[in-house]
Amino acid sequence: MVIGMEEGAIEVAKGLDKVIIDKTGIASTDNEGNLVYRGYQAVDLAENASFEQTAYLIVYGRMPSKGELKDFSSFLVSHSGLDGNTEKIISMLPKNTSIIDLLRSIVSLMPLKETSNDRILLEIAAKMPRISSDGYRLLRGMPVLKDIDGSYAERFYYLLTGSTDKLSAKYFERMLILYMEHEFNASTFTLRVTASTLADPRASVTAALAAIKGPLHGGANAEILNYMLKMKSKDEAVSFVEGKLARHEKIMGFGHRIYKKLDPRAQYVKGQLRGLAKLRKMDKLYEFSTAMEKTIWDKKQIPANLDFYAAIYMHLLGIDEAFYTPIFASSRSFGWAAHYIEQVSDNKLIRPDSRYVGPTGLRVK
Ligand code: COA
Repeated sequence: MVIGMEEGAIEVAKGLDKVIIDKTGIASTDNEGNLVYRGYQAVDLAENASFEQTAYLIVYGRMPSKGELKDFSSFLVSHSGLDGNTEKIISMLPKNTSIIDLLRSIVSLMPLKETSNDRILLEIAAKMPRISSDGYRLLRGMPVLKDIDGSYAERFYYLLTGSTDKLSAKYFERMLILYMEHEFNASTFTLRVTASTLADPRASVTAALAAIKGPLHGGANAEILNYMLKMKSKDEAVSFVEGKLARHEKIMGFGHRIYKKLDPRAQYVKGQLRGLAKLRKMDKLYEFSTAMEKTIWDKKQIPANLDFYAAIYMHLLGIDEAFYTPIFASSRSFGWAAHYIEQVSDNKLIRPDSRYVGPTGLRVK
């Protein structure tokens, strides 16, 4: 028997690569490029459903009736405001605090009115756009924006940009839907590990917010965009990625643990980006990005992931990059809500074992 290992223990791949650790009825992904939310293709929902309908579907497992949708949408509006102390807490934070750190800190301290797990989780999710917007503005000495009427996406888009343009908000909504859920990704798994200890929803979402910040998950989505904005030609874009591949450097926005051929979210957003880039007279960003994608695929068969196209998309929607990871987190918080509920409804503490490889037999005397 190996020291430190239980008899009968199974040793699995590092990073839990290709390991199924539990069942879920929320979403599924596969290597063929399918992403399914509760039985519906996510791109079908992005094209044909609203954010609120999709969020309801993810959390409650079925499409809402008209009345349920109305109640659900009203709940999100009525719980979107912040407690008066939040402004005071934000004013104590260093001015250079990132918005994702601010979001995590405020969520961890958030006073909550609701009592059942699903309502607490939705209350947290409902407040994320307002926390991100107020935090961003207060740290920069700007007044916070007033509330406007509208859908979740319209209100969120306004809080990020100050714009009430409905067409831009619709583009934004489609991307938000694709960010909402992705089965056992790193932040959701972190949430489920935390929930499995029977920690409360707020603690579990705080843990997920810590995990989403990492550059291998949600935290490096603007890196390649910033290089691209300085590029003058398609050739420059191609040699940029060729150079990175030759130096064996990671290119952010490419690669995925599950999607080895294509990320359906990236392909859908790329299609939307084409129209958006035309509208904004920034076709060159579309041209550069697709040339980079083709080069990386031809040379190394690594597909673009959602973050690559989403960063360009959000730039064209006039959204400051400080918001990119908080936007991802805000949308994903509905997926986290569903996973919290699913985890605690059939709970077993998630506690793996390890194989000890350190020294043995040492003595103090
Ligand atoms: N740029 C360059 N090479 C990459 C790459 C990238 N973005 N992603 C993967 N690769 C290469 C690795 O270097 C490795 O090559 P090798 O076999 O020659 O050593 C191979 O592809 C497998 O990569 P690996 O990192 O082991 O795969 P993974 O399943 O563990 O990683 C990610 C998945 C997402 C962590 C990885 O693709 C990555 O770091 N991407 C960049 C960050 C990012 O965009 N994250 C958002 C994900 S939605």
